[in-house]
Amino acid sequence: MAQTTIGMIGVGNMASAIAKAMHRADANLDLWLANRTANKIKSLVQTLSAQHVLMDEIDKALLKGTDMIFIGVKPKDISALFANLGDSVNIDQAITWVSMASNVSLAELKALTPEHHHWIRIMPNTPVEVGEGFTSYCFSEGLPEETLSKFKRIMSASGTITHIEEALFDVASGMAGCSPAFIYQLIEAMSDAGVAYGLNRQQSIEMGAQAVKGAASMVLETGKHPAQLKDAVTSPGGTTIAGVNTLEAEGFRAAIIKGISASIEKTRELQK
Ligand SMILES: NC(=O)c1ccc[n+]([C@@H]2O[C@H](COP(=O)([O-])OP(=O)(O)OC[C@H]3O[C@@H](n4cnc5c(N)ncnc54)[C@H](OP(=O)(O)O)[C@@H]3O)[C@@H](O)[C@H]2O)c1
Repeated sequence: MAQTTIGMIGVGNMASAIAKAMHRADANLDLWLANRTANKIKSLVQTLSAQHVLMDEIDKALLKGTDMIFIGVKPKDISALFANLGDSVNIDQAITWVSMASNVSLAELKALTPEHHHWIRIMPNTPVEVGEGFTSYCFSEGLPEETLSKFKRIMSASGTITHIEEALFDVASGMAGCSPAFIYQLIEAMSDAGVAYGLNRQQSIEMGAQAVKGAASMVLETGKHPAQLKDAVTSPGGTTIAGVNTLEAEGFRAAIIKGISASIEKTRELQK
């Protein structure tokens, strides 16, 4: 199989997590990384045996011969990035660009590059770094089947990848992009409870995190509805139902629904 060459411009939290996942999928991947602050990616470049591209060398070093270029800058920085790249993106080769920006549409992205270039829009989350991510994707019309297969192959070690309609990207942003932060809050709160009752902090974090991971695996692997799994561990008059009822009275489920809705609404607001 011919070696795949992947470029990445703007390598912060999300893009570096994706770069690590790609490296796991294919250690021989030809990876070219560029970041505004060059120093910040030096150790990542070394760890992944990647090529370090300076921003003013992108036109010479990165655009030609690259199969796919991931853009990892914040949504507000995309226009400035393409303004800086200027005419250098006007090349005959049909580059496939991949954007992870949470609220920039395919139509807006397409307008940044020549008509014959392709765009894939993704909504990943940071657990891609450990192969447990969830990445939704959609793509511009005319993306060759072979390019889509290549994209799926290089993302294969990142976790689950699913095609969704672009209209649902703001929902995927709240449900998958933002939600790891909510789960970290849950684990932190669980660990506070454990510490209050005498566990040390590390034991407490491990116990909470493994309970979350185990419960998630039960949902995914058994295919059972979460309520069914909850019912199976609540014996009449028992300890678990006492906790479940207290969480219900404290608005636990309503708080989660409100939190995810707030993230979705914020994404919608930022799109305007
Ligand atoms: N974090 C998440 O969980 C998550 C989830 C889903 C989607 N996303 C999306 O992922 C994107 C990046 O988010 P992030 O959290 O990874 O942000 P981040 O850590 O701030 O990374 C952004 C990176 O872009 C670089 N950059 C900014 N302007 C640039 C330019 N003109 N040229 C080259 N590099 C430039 C920054 O360089 P400096 O080092 O100079 O600052 C920084 O390394 C966003 O579009 C966000 O919507 C993030």
